[in-house]
Amino acid sequence: MSILFDARDRLWLLRTPATSYVLCLDEDDAPRHVHWGPRLTLDQAKRLAELRAALADTEADPGGEELSVEGGLRYGVPSLIVRYGDATRGVEWRFLRQRIEDGHLEIVFTDRRYPLEIALHYRVREDSDAIERHVVLRHTGQGPSIEILRLDSAAWTLPPRPGYRLSHVVGEWGKEFQLQRGALACGETTLTSRAGITGHAGNPWLMVDAGEATEEHGEVWSAALAWSGSWRITAFRDLKGRAGWSGGFGHEGLTWRLASGDVLETPAFAGLYSADGFGAISRGWHDHIRKHVLPAPDRVRPVVYNAWEATEFDYDEALQLDLAARASRIGIETFVLDDAWFGTRTHDAAGLGDWWPNPDRFPKGLGPLIDEVRRLGMDFGIWVEPEAVNPDSDLYRRNPDWVLHTPGRRRTESRNQLVLNLARPDVAEWTHAWLDALVGENEISFLKWDMNRSFSEAGWPGHDDPDRLWIDHVRNVYAIIDRLRADHPGLFIEGCAGGGGRVDLGMLARVDQVWASDNTDAAERVAIQHGYGQIYPACTMGAWATDSPNSMTARTHWVRYRFHVSMAGALGVGGDLRAWSEDDLAWAAAFVEQYKRARPVVHGGAQYRLGPEATQYVSADGREVVVLTYQPSALGRTPIPLRLTGLDPAARYRDQATGDVHHGAVLLTHGVGAGLMPFDGTSEFVHLTRVD
Ligand code: GLA
Repeated sequence: MSILFDARDRLWLLRTPATSYVLCLDEDDAPRHVHWGPRLTLDQAKRLAELRAALADTEADPGGEELSVEGGLRYGVPSLIVRYGDATRGVEWRFLRQRIEDGHLEIVFTDRRYPLEIALHYRVREDSDAIERHVVLRHTGQGPSIEILRLDSAAWTLPPRPGYRLSHVVGEWGKEFQLQRGALACGETTLTSRAGITGHAGNPWLMVDAGEATEEHGEVWSAALAWSGSWRITAFRDLKGRAGWSGGFGHEGLTWRLASGDVLETPAFAGLYSADGFGAISRGWHDHIRKHVLPAPDRVRPVVYNAWEATEFDYDEALQLDLAARASRIGIETFVLDDAWFGTRTHDAAGLGDWWPNPDRFPKGLGPLIDEVRRLGMDFGIWVEPEAVNPDSDLYRRNPDWVLHTPGRRRTESRNQLVLNLARPDVAEWTHAWLDALVGENEISFLKWDMNRSFSEAGWPGHDDPDRLWIDHVRNVYAIIDRLRADHPGLFIEGCAGGGGRVDLGMLARVDQVWASDNTDAAERVAIQHGYGQIYPACTMGAWATDSPNSMTARTHWVRYRFHVSMAGALGVGGDLRAWSEDDLAWAAAFVEQYKRARPVVHGGAQYRLGPEATQYVSADGREVVVLTYQPSALGRTPIPLRLTGLDPAARYRDQATGDVHHGAVLLTHGVGAGLMPFDGTSEFVHLTRVD
């Protein structure tokens, strides 16, 4: 049984394949954290709870609440801040009931005096160490509304240890997912997005270790939030060595009103512990996301061609036809038409919102291009940005009140755009209708859903609880995508937000892959992909090989290096194929071919980081191994052969390219090849298959 309840001690023991999670009720009915780490028996858990309770008795503020509230001598990070109709704040817990069903635990409390019901939810599974948690609030009375000033999905508590470190990613447009690892400061550290989308500046996950974890050893605690709007995670540490974090949707300063009978449900915040270092934590997340988050994990991620970097806004049907013909010759599976196919969108200042083919560019509609793409043996994909509008558009001229706005304030534009208020049911319904028609009336198998605008002047005139839009906008985006998927089962969806601005477990529950960054410079991409892969699996990471010199950085790279870097994700090609030499096109075709053979291993296998610039993938049956090695710069490097991991020392493995047969034991102890040549931008791709 994966969840045990001890009624006498009022203690719950949750078990995953390799970990345990324990909580109990204290004498005031508050839910207290006991343990998150290696497996414990019920007896061990009960004894630990006694010890913890004895220690807690000596503390004014024992901390460690499963959802920290205000009241009494609590001064830590509150996960829940409420104000009742009479201006009273805080929560006094009273346990009502609990329910265990199919790996799901629900513990329901109420405030002792006010009609606020708080349900804590936990979910464990037999094939994942991730524990998913969320909270549901309910106003159970008849009286005035309850104001919710903060509602996190969960608070997570770690055992007291010296030297806690925090790992997370920071970034900006073109430089997403830069991994940071450093001391977790005593006090509070907040990671957040106030942008209405997940954002480029950070990403809603963190890892905390006791300062001694390495790639393959040591305890690491981590969590990732399934939310694609504003979010906040506050990590804390004190002088007693206590640490933890609380996190959820929304940023500070937003309030939601809970009227009589209303329910507010948070997104899931999943936690994952491993005793085997950062590598095991990443593999745990990759597995969990593939098994339990992605909507269609086994669907083959097609090799796309996307002409955005080649054309930007400047193209017509003839040019797209030309590029499609070239793309088909290098083995592309899906041809994607990016921005600027609709309305008067010939630059970024007009037409967004007018979702019909631009009559100058596509005089007979999209049909001829789609037919030709399909005749060439490729599927057809198209770019949309459903949440934004150019003021210079028919849509905005007709419906100026459809955007987020506040009377008396300016409507700040960014990229000449405003944000449509998708929290409004009518706007959401209209959005679904045009997308449904676009996909249903054309043979479109791939949708790139972009979102290039952060929220501003985020008002909802006339609504009596306007901050709801921060939640409802995201929920309606989810609902539209879910409905499109349900009604068009073959549709493949790529998420995007000015590059990698909306990557999270909430998006990944409804899109197949995401565009990780507009920066396609292979050297920079190595660091971006390193940060991305800390949590998110390779099969979700859109990665194009593009032109040299690169359009963003002007850096030049060999075609081999550009492809090798992109082959670590869901490969695409994004260059101007008209300018590629015959040689490069032949190489491109060969790499695409090689990638297609390696794709099941890279996308479905276990990923081992052999270093920041070398990654190995091992198929589930252990029979296939792919190794990708990069050297953005050769300065100061000595060419050392790379030792592999996760192989059977007694087995032999054949190199698919050379036919050479290697012993597992030799690969494990001495490595493969002679190391990279002493040049900048060099790389190796090795695909091994077990022979016996
Ligand atoms: C964003 C995306 C790009 C491209 C452009 C189009 O920047 O990240 O890939 O689609 O929008 O305007």
